[in-house]
Amino acid sequence: MAARGEFSSRMAFVLAASGSAIGLGNIWGFPIKVASNGGGAFVFTYVVLTFLLAYPILMAELVIGRHAKSDTVRSLVKISSPGTKPLAFLTGYWGILTASLILSFYAIVAGWMIAFGLGSAADLFGANQYSEWLTKFSLERNLVFVTIFYVLTIGIVANGVAAGIEKWSTRLMPTLILLILALIAYISTQDGAGEGWRVYLQPDFSRVLNPDLLISALGQAFFSLSLGVGTMMVYGSYISKSENLPRLGATVAVMDIGIAFMAGLLVIPAVYVAQTNGVTIYNEAGALIDSDGLIFNVLPALFETMGAAGVIVSLVFFTLMTIAALTSSISMLEVPVAHAQESHGLSRKAAAWFVGAVILTVSVVIVFNFSTLFTLVIDLTTKYSEPLIGILFCLFAGWVWKRNELLKELQQGQPDMENSLFWKIWPAYVRVVCPVIVLAVFMHSFGLLNL
Ligand code: PHE
Repeated sequence: MAARGEFSSRMAFVLAASGSAIGLGNIWGFPIKVASNGGGAFVFTYVVLTFLLAYPILMAELVIGRHAKSDTVRSLVKISSPGTKPLAFLTGYWGILTASLILSFYAIVAGWMIAFGLGSAADLFGANQYSEWLTKFSLERNLVFVTIFYVLTIGIVANGVAAGIEKWSTRLMPTLILLILALIAYISTQDGAGEGWRVYLQPDFSRVLNPDLLISALGQAFFSLSLGVGTMMVYGSYISKSENLPRLGATVAVMDIGIAFMAGLLVIPAVYVAQTNGVTIYNEAGALIDSDGLIFNVLPALFETMGAAGVIVSLVFFTLMTIAALTSSISMLEVPVAHAQESHGLSRKAAAWFVGAVILTVSVVIVFNFSTLFTLVIDLTTKYSEPLIGILFCLFAGWVWKRNELLKELQQGQPDMENSLFWKIWPAYVRVVCPVIVLAVFMHSFGLLNL
């Protein structure tokens, strides 16, 4: 196993895992969901579900991954008894399929980010006819940029853990955070922002148990932390045994929520500022117009109010979004690639290009059938698959894996684990509480249980 990669330091892992977690889910997905689910009530439910469910499941993935040091299928098989092996295969492959399908829609949106970035660059040089093509929804544009995004993703993954994934993940975060903070400061000077913050920060508690809101917040909590597909299990497999896992996991979770929350502080007021400036955002029924394109309408409208500086801000923003998307997409592709490499003996390069090409083909099919497939694939993978697989991971950590082995794994890097608060709460939690909550939310959203 000498060829297995490992992150070179704790910082490198935190940045790579945060890089995976922080992406379009935080800055494109989260604000759209907040806006279409009535604001603060969604924010509240999402934060509660992240602490209640997502963090414990993140820990399940990390600890299984680091113990088994293998791809998802083999990791789950390794901790299984003979009787549960078939379930391990099923769960592992379902995760690989879900990770691949997530990449197939994610890359399309990431392609838009590149196109908008180039659009601002074109504006900067006065080449407006190009920027119009780049920022207008079209089949050709979508095909060109989804392909470019795949080439970038595959290129990084083909280079392996330290040289590829790690090098890229360690650069982005500080710049992204600073830019968002600066934009929040700017938007606070605009008319309409106050109303946006009120909607964002004041939860209407009567909506919190709304079935659509709950299932959407559940999916978002999983998606945003990259859970329920095996990404964090594979990343966990690259963590050194000397690290304190619960602390690493908590750092990643807090960074992820923090960035999503900040993105909301920017985008939701931007919606209201745009509305004040005459941009139509809601239709008569009160639903968001063109919700997938929300930030592609609202933020450029905001940048325009900044005059000449807006073009540069826009360029920087979309460039950073592209990088944020890349540090996530590489972690998706890593799931099938690690499997092709470790279970089927392909070289990393061959695995990355072969698997990448297959998933690109799926993206192309989605691009050609955008109106029917795009939202469908998003809903199937994020609302349903991820939480269900997440629960299967819990069952593996809580029931299938022997408790003393689990403890032994956690003691590496934290010798006093047995007396820690984490060990007092978490094992029972992943065994019972997490599966029950997810099941309850599902039944509630299908009308089978009245919460
Ligand atoms: N967490 C990423 C985001 O918020 C998306 C992701 C999902 C990444 C699943 C890996 C696996 O953008």
